[in-house]
Amino acid sequence: ETDTDIYYTVVSRTGEVQLMPGRKTKTWGYNAPLLGKTIIFKRGKHIHITLKNELPELTTYHWHGSVIPGVADGGCHTPVYPGETKHIDFDIDQPAATLWMHAHPCPSTAEQVWHGLATAVVVKDEEEAKLPLPRNYGVDDIPLILQDRRFHEDNQWDYQSDYDPDGVMGPTAMINGTINPYFDVTTQKVRFRILDGANRREWRLHFSDDLKFTQIAGDGSLLPHPVDFTKLLIGCAERMEIVVDFGKYKPGDEVVLYSDDTPIVHFRIHEFAKDDSQIPETLTDTLPDPEVTPDAPIRKIVMSGMDESVEINGKKFDMSRIDTKTKLNNVEYWDVTNSNDMEGGMLHPYHMHGCVFKVISRNGKAPYPNELGLKDTVEVQPGETVRLKVWFPCVGVFMYHCHIIEHEDGGMMLQYEVP
Ligand code: C2O
Ligand code: CU
Ligand code: CU
Repeated sequence: ETDTDIYYTVVSRTGEVQLMPGRKTKTWGYNAPLLGKTIIFKRGKHIHITLKNELPELTTYHWHGSVIPGVADGGCHTPVYPGETKHIDFDIDQPAATLWMHAHPCPSTAEQVWHGLATAVVVKDEEEAKLPLPRNYGVDDIPLILQDRRFHEDNQWDYQSDYDPDGVMGPTAMINGTINPYFDVTTQKVRFRILDGANRREWRLHFSDDLKFTQIAGDGSLLPHPVDFTKLLIGCAERMEIVVDFGKYKPGDEVVLYSDDTPIVHFRIHEFAKDDSQIPETLTDTLPDPEVTPDAPIRKIVMSGMDESVEINGKKFDMSRIDTKTKLNNVEYWDVTNSNDMEGGMLHPYHMHGCVFKVISRNGKAPYPNELGLKDTVEVQPGETVRLKVWFPCVGVFMYHCHIIEHEDGGMMLQYEVP
């Protein structure tokens, strides 16, 4: 690593992991048998990445949330074939945040992610580094990748037997690639970088004792102001950073993180030093908020259908068709509607590559206080229209889609181009 450059080699490979007693599970991962070690970007650096595919099929490496040109973004247009090595490089100039990287070959993203092709990416910057927040990686700064899986009796992945075109779920929570994990708490305050890396499942998180916690960041940045919760909903592909204060516990105590009624992580409390630090009232006041470009069109995005009939604006994905053309650095309103308002309608997590957005309103009303930072994925409820202000700092062809991965693979995805 020199002053201005960061180098990484990312190898997608097969492996085996002892997830449960009995046979090992055959898995896929990045430089690791399953998932991968967190990748760190620093704002202002030039990132060089070597991509190597040691899998038996083609894959892509999508930098979800990284605001980088289409050639590096890793969508369907940039396959890496088995045995192939490719190089990409790009500048990282975006605020500190938790992003991620995952496979994105169309239409087998869902199955590749299920096999294990997802990993956390953390952007660091000088502004965040000055705040009194936990940031000792692995000690008080911990990624929590939330996924669910189904297994065959011989402990192998079972993606198919309960296949659902509206998204595949499994009965077993897999957190950071571990079943039934525990974490040793050795500091009073711990920051968790939560990523919903599941194919379909949203998580309703809460701790035992209704322990209060504080959200400090969303997908693409710190929140302007921290928000306290006892219960938090996170949807597919979203990230939320929270700080938990374990101050009222003593060594030997156990705290449990649940999603609905299912315990997903156990925390074992150890001795820790008293920590009186306060989360600042204002976490950031430097987030960009550009003016909408005069005469820019208001884009209408309508997500509709269920099962195999899912569409956006009445169309299914076609890699050779550009659905929307915009201009470099344009700032536009995108009104995203979930037209499925019938009983039992589904929530669609709407995601865009290669751009940045802010949530402006939900059915004309103010957005939630924990979505006031920069975002790249937004939950759209049945019958809801969410207005986004979107800007386009990068050149290329990019996807926008529902992040229920089976919906994406099923064609609930279009493309825009910034020429
Ligand atoms: Cu996280 Cu198009 O993807
Ligand atoms: Cu993405
Ligand atoms: Cu969907």
